[in-house]
Amino acid sequence: MITISVERSDREGGREPVLEGYEVPIDDGATVMGALLHIYETSESNLAFRCGCRNRDCGLCAVDVNGKPRLACITPLKKGLVIRPLRRLPVARDLVIDRRWIMPFLERFDLFVRDGGLREWPPRLSVPAEHARLAGCAECLSCLAACPSFESGREDIGGPYHFVKLAQLHWDPRDSADRRAQAAQLGIARCAGCRKCACPLGIPIYRAAVAPLAGGRSERSAGD
Ligand code: SF4
Ligand code: SF4
Ligand code: FES
Repeated sequence: MITISVERSDREGGREPVLEGYEVPIDDGATVMGALLHIYETSESNLAFRCGCRNRDCGLCAVDVNGKPRLACITPLKKGLVIRPLRRLPVARDLVIDRRWIMPFLERFDLFVRDGGLREWPPRLSVPAEHARLAGCAECLSCLAACPSFESGREDIGGPYHFVKLAQLHWDPRDSADRRAQAAQLGIARCAGCRKCACPLGIPIYRAAVAPLAGGRSERSAGD
């Protein structure tokens, strides 16, 4: 057995954040998610955390582990880990982030292919490499937690997740909207010189989303 710490809180119920220690079993392949499930099943059935696919696909299990955003289902369990909810995001309870603000925040940017006709003729059949990489975003929000500029609750400040959403369309040859202008509305100018975008799934956020939207590359290219 090893001991780990988990932040417990209930903002709506008036319980301030406090670190609680828990003993959990460890063996080869043990993960942070396995430890949370053990705590939930054996002693604390009111521990709030999200768990979905348990295979790095759904993005629901993102938490802060020793100060870094991680997917709990693929993060190795170690003695002394401190597990908290993702930073910079509103917390509902314990490790659960309140995600209700996301859709209203994004709705004003029309995140669908606008019916403006194809930008090229004949239409390109290949998918730009950037588009394919960005399509793997699991919407875990870890990148927002690691972004020094992001402030939740401010409608004029976006973060890497929002730039990924805009860039998915920026690279889509069918989309005619000016996604760079939308990124500018979200303060992408703050990104100059930062490059701290981080994704647990390895999505090259800065190269494929931030730099192109900020004007680092003028062409929407295929396959490079
Ligand atoms: S870009 Fe990566 S870190 Fe950001 S929401 Fe998508 S999967 Fe999560
Ligand atoms: S480059 Fe921009 S989006 Fe990426 S971490 Fe820095 S401020 Fe955030
Ligand atoms: S539970 Fe789905 S990514 Fe971890």
